[in-house]
Amino acid sequence: MVTLGIESSCDETSVALLDDQRILANKVYSQLEHAAYGGVVPEVASRAHLEKIDRLAAGVLAEASLTIGDIGLIAVTDSPGLAGALLIGVGFALGLHVRHTIPVCGINHLEGHICAILLEHPAIGFPFLALVASGGHTAIYRVDDVGTYSCLGRTVDDAAGEAFDKVGKMLGFPYPAGRAIEEEARLAGSDAVPDFPIARMPGAPLNFSFSGLKTALKYYLNADAARRTRAGRPVICKAFQEAAVRSLVNHCVEAAESTGIRRVALVGGVACNGRLRDEMRRRLGSQVFFPSPSLCTDNGAMIACAGFNRSKRNLLRPPHMDPGGTL
Ligand code: KG4
Ligand code: ZN
Repeated sequence: MVTLGIESSCDETSVALLDDQRILANKVYSQLEHAAYGGVVPEVASRAHLEKIDRLAAGVLAEASLTIGDIGLIAVTDSPGLAGALLIGVGFALGLHVRHTIPVCGINHLEGHICAILLEHPAIGFPFLALVASGGHTAIYRVDDVGTYSCLGRTVDDAAGEAFDKVGKMLGFPYPAGRAIEEEARLAGSDAVPDFPIARMPGAPLNFSFSGLKTALKYYLNADAARRTRAGRPVICKAFQEAAVRSLVNHCVEAAESTGIRRVALVGGVACNGRLRDEMRRRLGSQVFFPSPSLCTDNGAMIACAGFNRSKRNLLRPPHMDPGGTL
């Protein structure tokens, strides 16, 4: 079955076509419009989605040499995300649904990130644990099947990617800063770095908190002007990255121990981070899986994959806009 996947929850407009779980085309427009503002501006995002979405849809059809009549299912992100941004994707999907009578299914964005693992590791096997670490969300799920998720812990304040982005802003990197911080940290080589504390939540050991780390780093930077300079930045980036990675990996190890589930999928934009991938592998061994970087960040293929798997299980549901929804 051919599934059209549509993603527009934040600042990536993406449309993809899958043949079952095989990617036929996956086009992503990352909105550069926000760079000047240091963060995503909701109205700017909606407008940019509207300008790009139909050309992306035409583009994937052309790339796959298919027509609208070949599409068996439309899957669209309907929660969580920016209301105006979600509305563009959902409106576009419903337009196609009404005009061409193609079934349409709403997809939770976090479910999409989790299903990204099935595109390249279809035999991962259930149950598995999924660490979703992105710019807007950080949580660990037990995944018993597509459609059956239990949240074992989530962040009580910033998301991991948000912490990367905010630290990047303090250091003068453009938004989003995750990749730049990783590259800068590499320049520190094997230099010793300050040990920043990572929070532990009493009574909820699998919950995350990144705001304390961000504040500790801010005080550290403010104590000595040299630390913000070009020469000082690699050590700061490495220290921050080490602490953030330690927090993410420790939580996954604890979740694996407490559930007895050793298979772990690492998904979401932060899963692009090489240091995180290496540490996860070192601590959890060969049972750690991650998507290719282009499938970690927001994309339509992961949404289509969630839709295809829902359809196989008779779990299709109409889109219902829910900007604040969780998984
Ligand atoms: O999944 P995603 O594209 O969007 C959301 O759903 O939020 O994730 C984007 C986030 C940004 O915060 C970005 O800084 C972070 O992923 N990111 C990284 C890396 N590449 C992207 N964080 C750390 N290291 C990276 N290499
Ligand atoms: Zn995302």
